Amino acid sequence: MRDSAEFTVSAVLLEWYDRHARELPWRTSPADRAAGVLPDPYQVWLSEVMLQQTTVAAVRDYFLRFTTRWPTVQALAAAPDEQVMGEWAGLGYYARARNLLKCARAVAQDHDGRFPETFDALLNLPGIGPYTAAAISAIAFDRPETVLDGNVERVMARFHDIHDPLPGSKPLLKEKASNLTPSTRPGDYAQAVMDLGATICTPKSPACGICPLRDPCQSRVAGTQAGLPQKTPKKPKPTRYGHVFIARRTDGAMVLERRPDKGLLGGMLGWPGSEWNEAPIEHTPFPAEWKVLSGEVRHTFTHFHLILRIWAAEVDDHSIPKHLTVVDKHSFKPSDLPTVMRKAYNLWSGQ
Ligand code: ADE
Repeated sequence: MRDSAEFTVSAVLLEWYDRHARELPWRTSPADRAAGVLPDPYQVWLSEVMLQQTTVAAVRDYFLRFTTRWPTVQALAAAPDEQVMGEWAGLGYYARARNLLKCARAVAQDHDGRFPETFDALLNLPGIGPYTAAAISAIAFDRPETVLDGNVERVMARFHDIHDPLPGSKPLLKEKASNLTPSTRPGDYAQAVMDLGATICTPKSPACGICPLRDPCQSRVAGTQAGLPQKTPKKPKPTRYGHVFIARRTDGAMVLERRPDKGLLGGMLGWPGSEWNEAPIEHTPFPAEWKVLSGEVRHTFTHFHLILRIWAAEVDDHSIPKHLTVVDKHSFKPSDLPTVMRKAYNLWSGQ
């Protein structure tokens, strides 16, 4: 049983959502939902996988390109790996793209092309963790699952004035979020809390004056909202160093290497290069007249910063080792490369 305060919070948030829901390409609006339009679970799943660790602004165009090219889970399941990895390029966290394909194929083959509805069944699919399982079950199938992302954590920490730092406070925040989750319209409610966190209860300068929860919000009463949620300081990231080698064949074709499936940028095309180590090292690529470019490429991954030296050469066909992939100049698209490799390309091409 929920007490009346909890009932009111969800009712107030749903009423706010009915008026202020963001229009997002994967979203079924609250008005359409009320009129009986059901969300497409494929679109909900795809958007949630894309949105992990990334912003709505970064995802929008990727989502539209994916759903235009592959409108159904069956279409995606039938797509060649390289095409999907190419469309994903730039979104980062490439293991997600490989799991995306595995999941699409599992749904197409083992579930007749229909996503399962329950949290537990969704959790069994490749690449679907507790967050995504809850989000799909709530948003696509209107089940009362509690969806806890960074936005929801912030809203809960502030609403209840919780000062325990993240990530240790996650279980407590989850419990608070779960207590507020209603059994009516849980899918709209999940999206309402996310939207509140994204548009009003923002990390910096929350707009408390227009917040539908301003009166019951405990941190607003205490004046502590700007400092919440507290976070345990992260360890500083180490810096690694490496080299990449950009070779152009005399006819303009580019020499690339597909990275092994496992590991960082797994399965993606990139420039051949050295390992990335904590100390700068010398490294010789295949024989050619290499010239080092002035400048360097800097990129930050989840666990480290990377500084790359870029080398360039013109090569003829017989000097290119067989394990490398030669892409002719008409097929080569810098947008198929992961961001760090595109930065190297941009330095080389003078952009
Ligand atoms: N962030 C992650 N998933 C979202 C969703 N379904 N709506 C709004 N923001 C989100």
